[in-house]
Order: sequence, then structure tokens, then C-alpha cells
Amino acid sequence: MSTAIITPKRTDNQLDLIIHRPISGLSLQGTLRVPGDKSISHRALMLGALAQGETQIQGLLLGEDPRSTAGCFRAMGAEISELNTEQVTVKGIGLGKLQEPVEVLNAGNSGTTLRLMLGILASHPERFFAVTGDSSLRSRPMSRVVKPLQEMGANIWGRQGNSLAPLAIQGSQLQPIHYHSPIASAQVKSCILLAGLMVEGETTVTEPALSRDHSERMLQAFGAKLRIEPETNSVTIAGPAQLQGQTVIVPGDISSAAFWLVAGAIVPDSELLIANVGVNPTRTGILEALEMMGADIQLENQRVVAGEPVADLRVRHGRLKACKIAGDIIPRLIDEIPILAVAAVFAEGTTVIQDAAELRVKESDRLAVMASQLNKMGARVTELPDGLEITGGTPLTGTEVESYTDHRIAMSLAIAALNATNTTTIHGAEAAAISYPDFVTTLQQVCD
Ligand code: S3P
Repeated sequence: MSTAIITPKRTDNQLDLIIHRPISGLSLQGTLRVPGDKSISHRALMLGALAQGETQIQGLLLGEDPRSTAGCFRAMGAEISELNTEQVTVKGIGLGKLQEPVEVLNAGNSGTTLRLMLGILASHPERFFAVTGDSSLRSRPMSRVVKPLQEMGANIWGRQGNSLAPLAIQGSQLQPIHYHSPIASAQVKSCILLAGLMVEGETTVTEPALSRDHSERMLQAFGAKLRIEPETNSVTIAGPAQLQGQTVIVPGDISSAAFWLVAGAIVPDSELLIANVGVNPTRTGILEALEMMGADIQLENQRVVAGEPVADLRVRHGRLKACKIAGDIIPRLIDEIPILAVAAVFAEGTTVIQDAAELRVKESDRLAVMASQLNKMGARVTELPDGLEITGGTPLTGTEVESYTDHRIAMSLAIAALNATNTTTIHGAEAAAISYPDFVTTLQQVCD
């Protein structure tokens, strides 16, 4: 068995990842663990900060995004111990008790930090907050949360009609609403529910399709009263709530596992076991899509850990076929579309992904970037207004590609490179640290 040569080349804060694949004989083997779920990590830090008493978090993601959340809540008085995967302690300061920060709160690259935090800040009367993020986050739409918060009476100002960060927030006593969200977005839903924590009465969010439900699960575990109506994709929170500190055990992130699921499926003779992965049904669209493509994936040792379903995922190489991915499944695999595009490049036939215009406003325009970078490697990818059309079966050739400082793009291109001839250089691979700081080490491990 010959191995791929993975060479990380660091200069200052940048990383070029050079992947040289042998002509034949590469197969991926082994058992691996992925880092903690990003969505659950953010929520554990936030609810821990807002609760009475202590919260213990095991398995927290040590990526840059949760570090941004921890930094913001520390700046508002929450005592959060040094971040590690073993055990993080958050000493909550109680609902409505966040202190006015003396500096601008910086959410870095993290849309979840900024959007969820806005609901919390807007509902803190008599405090003023200023929030910002990096250049990617400052270009992402905030009106999707600013508008419903304004309907609740929030005072928020920002660039371009209050739609872009930096934003200024004068916290106030908000009113309950029933918000019909035009998009299936867990960030929008969670922002409003978090604002509803401090509101007198019932705050309801209805979404067009079900998005991830980690907020609902964790809010209930911390003691908030929620009513969930699955027939209408509605959730209601009764405020004002009382939150009590809890122990949160964060499962491995299925969005990170997705890279290895696709790697194992496309690289000949591979077999990988990915241990301890969260398989919350609002996140398992990737498993269903890969199953439609004929991938050999098994869920083993299924269990429930601290209110979230968990399993070990075994993947074996096999032939993939094209499929159509559209409609209600999209919010359940929204972050996995870049790596699904890589799977489609190696599948027989033409895969069509639609109803995914949201990808244009993620950390990068993921439709445009995946199409342009995979095509540089010789793939046949056409951009649609709301998706991608990918004709599989053309071999890829290594070349220079760009992450556009987007973590999921960097990692998706690295997996594509494992099945490309010659050498691929991924510029901007340092972005992987947003959600997967050990990605390169694990890549080296599975290729060895
Ligand atoms: C997230 C929700 C998703 C996802 C993001 C994390 C969350 O965004 O893309 O990476 O933790 O709530 P949207 O809900 O806006 O689609």
C-alpha cells in the first residue's frame, strides 16, 4: 500500500496544504474521532453563561468559532474556564444579568455566534453593545435576524439599512411575536427563541422546513418551557424562563465526519470507522444523500448521550451513482453540500443540487467557489442560481486551488485531492481551524 504525501506549509498565519497522491494504491484505513459539534458547542457556552449555577461541558469543539463565542461571553462577565476537550466549566451569571462590555464584541468568522448572540443582547434592557466580525462575517446578511428582533421592539443599527455588521444594539424589554421565517435557518430560529427567554409571554417561530433543533433540545435540558409542533415546524418558548446549569456532553460533529464519509466512499479499497458522531435527525441529510448515491455506510452502536443521538459510522469504498438533492432535505445537510459536490464528481451520472441558494451567503459563496475550484481540477460542475449540476466520472488532476478562507471549502478540496492525479496545493487551508483544528493531522493519519 503506498500513501499520499501530505505536506502542510506554514507561512505566518497561512497554510498551504500540498497533497501528492501516488499513481495507485492509496487506500484509507483506520478508526478516528472528529471534534465536537460546532452548533452544540456554541449553544452550551451561551446557555451556560445565561444559566444560574455551573455548567460543565465535555467534548467542546476547540475551533476558532466557539473561541469567538467564549470570548464574547467572557467580555460580558461569564466565567468560562480555559477551553479544552476534557471539561470546561462555565459559571453562569443568570438570565438578564450580562454586563455591558467595555469593548466591541468580536464574533470573528462565526455567523452562529453573531446571530444567536443578537437575540440575547437585544433583550438585555439598559445595556449597550457593539458587535462585529471578520471581513467574511461583515458581508453576511444580518437582516434575517435584525428584522424579527425589531418586530419584537429591538433597537439595532448597522450598515446598509441595519443589515450588515458592525451593529450597535441598545438592549430593551421586548414583546412576544409569532414569526413566520421565510427561510429554514436554525440561526434565525435560535436567535428568536433566545430573545424569547426574557420576554413575558409566548414567542413562536414557524419555519418552512425543519432546521437543526439543538437549541430546542438544550433549552429544554436547561429548564426552559418549550412547545414543539412538528406538523407546522413551529416552536414556542414561554418567557420569562429560568435556566439552570447542566452537564453537556458534546458529540462529534457530523459535518466534520462528512469529509471522512466521502473520503472513504471515493478512495478505492478504503474502510474508515468514525467513532462518536452526533446523528440528530435534523443533521443526517448527508447520510441519506450518500445512501441515495449508493455509498456503503453503516451506523453502529447507536445510543443517546445527554439528549443527543450518537453512533459510530463505518464507511467502505464503493461505486457511487448520481442523485437529486433538493427540497426539505437541504436544511438537514446545508453545511455538507461542498463535500457532497466532491462525492458527485466521482459518481456515475449527473447529480443535481437545488434549493440551496443559502450557500451563497455562507462563509463564502460556496456554490461559486466549489464550481470554480473543482472545475480547475478538471471536474464538470455547472452553477445553478440555487445549486449545482455535477456530471461525474471525469478524472481529476491536481492543481492550485483556493479555500477563499472558508473552512468547509478547504477540507472538501483536500478530500477531492486524494482522488486527483499529481499534486494539489490548497491555499488558505488554515481556515480548517474554524471547525476542525486537527484536520490535517487526521488526514495524515488515515493516509498512512
Ligand atoms: C448553524 C446553522 C446553520 C449552519 C451553521 C450553523 C447553527 O446555518 O449552516 O454552520 O449552529 O445554528 P443556518 O441555520 O443559517 O442555515
